[in-house]
Amino acid sequence: MIKFHNISKKIGKTQILSDINLEINPQEFICLVGPSGAGKSVLLHILLGAEHPTEGRIIVDEYIVNKMKESALSDFRRKVGMVFQDYKLLPHKTVYENVAFVLEVCGIPDEYIKRRVPEVLKLVNMLDHADKFPRELSGGEAQRTALARALAHMPKLIIADEPTADLDPDATNELIDLLLKINKSGTTVILATHNKNVVDKIRKRVVTIHEGKIVSDKESAGYSD
Ligand SMILES: Nc1ncnc2c1ncn2[C@@H]1O[C@H](COP(=O)(O)OP(=O)(O)O)[C@@H](O)[C@H]1O
Ligand SMILES: [Mg+2]
Repeated sequence: MIKFHNISKKIGKTQILSDINLEINPQEFICLVGPSGAGKSVLLHILLGAEHPTEGRIIVDEYIVNKMKESALSDFRRKVGMVFQDYKLLPHKTVYENVAFVLEVCGIPDEYIKRRVPEVLKLVNMLDHADKFPRELSGGEAQRTALARALAHMPKLIIADEPTADLDPDATNELIDLLLKINKSGTTVILATHNKNVVDKIRKRVVTIHEGKIVSDKESAGYSD
């Protein structure tokens, strides 16, 4: 369970978020929508403890995120899978190595890594490209690799911030289908996007932010419902 309780955020003199109240249940799929500059990314940064709210509390399961120290925060972030617009793959590592690396730095045993990486690459249809380097991948393939990396440690929550912004329509649809599949298998998904077509295709809960405020919250909705 994720709970934003009266979250406000000021940066300098600018009010970025105002009185955000939002609860997200386990296994929900939520689209966080709103125009560029609405405050979606700042809200996700607050959820991850990367930014502090000026007011309010953010609770994720047993964690009060805004009160956590840096060491506890990195422990917490390891339980979340993150995907961004720019794939942030390591350029000198292959697809396989990019995914394996996140498990290695967590101190996961090699035998487990050797089993888990092919499994998660298969899930995102990237097993055939395991030995390629990021520069050899299309945008869709790079983003699917980033998704595999986010899923490697079996997070209960995936946060995707504009993951389709640089993808063509086919690659966008493929990524959406994967996110829906991952959600169906029990992972909570929070997807921030300003892409109308993406929201219309997903038709799950849609929370709309405008100028730092939640202006609507609808179940099974399209962009303009
Ligand atoms: N570090 C920062 N300093 C000043 N303003 C910021 C900072 N980060 C974000 N903003 C401002 O906050 C608003 C919301 O930004 P953001 O959350 O990135 O929007 P979105 O992700 O919805 O496009 C924007 O007006 C942006 O310029
Ligand atoms: Mg953003």
